[in-house]
Amino acid sequence: MKNWTHTDRIIAPSLLAADFGRVAEETTRAINSGADWMHLDVMDGHFVDNISFGPAIIQAIHETNDVFLDVHLMITRPDHFLPRFIAAGSDLITVHVEPEADHDVSRTLKAIREAGVKAGLAFNPATPFSAVEPYLEEIDLLLAMTVVPGFGGQSFMPEVMPKIEAAVKAREEKGLSFHIQVDGGIGAETGPIATAAGANVLVAGSSTFCAPDMAAAITQLRE
Ligand code: DX5
Ligand code: ZN
Repeated sequence: MKNWTHTDRIIAPSLLAADFGRVAEETTRAINSGADWMHLDVMDGHFVDNISFGPAIIQAIHETNDVFLDVHLMITRPDHFLPRFIAAGSDLITVHVEPEADHDVSRTLKAIREAGVKAGLAFNPATPFSAVEPYLEEIDLLLAMTVVPGFGGQSFMPEVMPKIEAAVKAREEKGLSFHIQVDGGIGAETGPIATAAGANVLVAGSSTFCAPDMAAAITQLRE
C-alpha cells in the first residue's frame, strides 16, 4: 500500500453517508471513483449522540476491499476497544482528546503505534489547539473536526481554520510530518477553505456518496 505523506492531497469518503445495506459494494464504488482512503466513523451512543457500526463491519470491508482504512473512533474508552479495531484491519485509528473519551491519550496513541497502525488524534470544534499540542510528537494525523461530531450532513465551521493554521505552524517549528485532516461539511465549496488553511486529508460523506456523480465529486475535491 502507498505511503502517503502530509504533502499529498488525500480524499477519504465517509462510509456514514453510504447505503448501509451494501457496505462492501459502496466501498468498491468509492475506490472506483478515486477515493484514496475509506473513512469509517465509529459511534457508541455515549461519546456522541448516535450509534453507527463497530469492528465487524470494518473487518467485512477489510476482507472485501484492499483500501487504506481510516477509522475514526467517536467512543468512550477507545483504549479498551482498541485490540478489536486493530484485529479488524484498521490502517489508521484516530481517537479523541476530549476528557469525555475517558482514556490516557498518550498510552492509547502508543498502543496504536506498537500494533503497527498509524495513530490519529481528533479534537472537536470547541476544543482548543492547546489540548492536542502536547501530543504532536506522538501522532501520524491530527483531525480537526469541522462540525460537532455525531452526524453526517452538517454545515462546515470556518471558525476552526485558525486551529489548522496553528497546527501547520507547530508542525514546522517542531520538524514533524503528521497529516492534518478535516471532517464535517467538506465539499466543493469548503474543501478549498480547509486546504488553504493547511489540511491535506479531506473527509467527505454526503458530498461524495450522495453526489449524482461520485467520481466527479472526488475529482473536484482533489483539485
Ligand atoms: C461526523 C463524522 C463525519 C461525517 C461527515 O460526526 O465524523 O465523518 O461522516 O459527514 P459529512 O461529510 O456529510 O459532513
Ligand atoms: Zn469522521
